[in-house]
Amino acid sequence: MERKEFIEKVGLSSASILIFGCMQACSKSDSTPTTNNNSGNQGTNKPVDFTINISVAPYLSLNAPGGFFVESTTGIIIARTLKNEFIAVSAICTHQGVNVEFQANSNRFYCAAHGSAFDASGAVTIGPATTALKQYKTSLSGSNLRVYA
Ligand code: FES
Repeated sequence: MERKEFIEKVGLSSASILIFGCMQACSKSDSTPTTNNNSGNQGTNKPVDFTINISVAPYLSLNAPGGFFVESTTGIIIARTLKNEFIAVSAICTHQGVNVEFQANSNRFYCAAHGSAFDASGAVTIGPATTALKQYKTSLSGSNLRVYA
């Protein structure tokens, strides 16, 4: 192989590798995921509307007053209050995005990360969070609980 021919082949191969690498690095599949907008819907624009059967796993915690469940696909926390009412809000704390929990005895949502608390409708009662959790409607029919915007 002549020197000129060798350089042409190596040069072409290197250019191909660089172009291929750049195309992969710039492809859409590598783009940054959508950031969570604290809407309780994990950053999607789809309206929330789903139904769960609280008599089967993994929702059995909702069968007793005081129980709660975080629906991870939507980022919504559903709770059954001690007054036997179902409430649902975004599970994602508006301070820095940690999941909240339901504290039945205080009838509130609480974020253990920095101590923010939210009432049953999602309104801030204790900071540092300053923005309410988005509230969702609930409707129970038999053992089917619908959660919707
Ligand atoms: S992340 Fe919830 S209080 Fe800071």
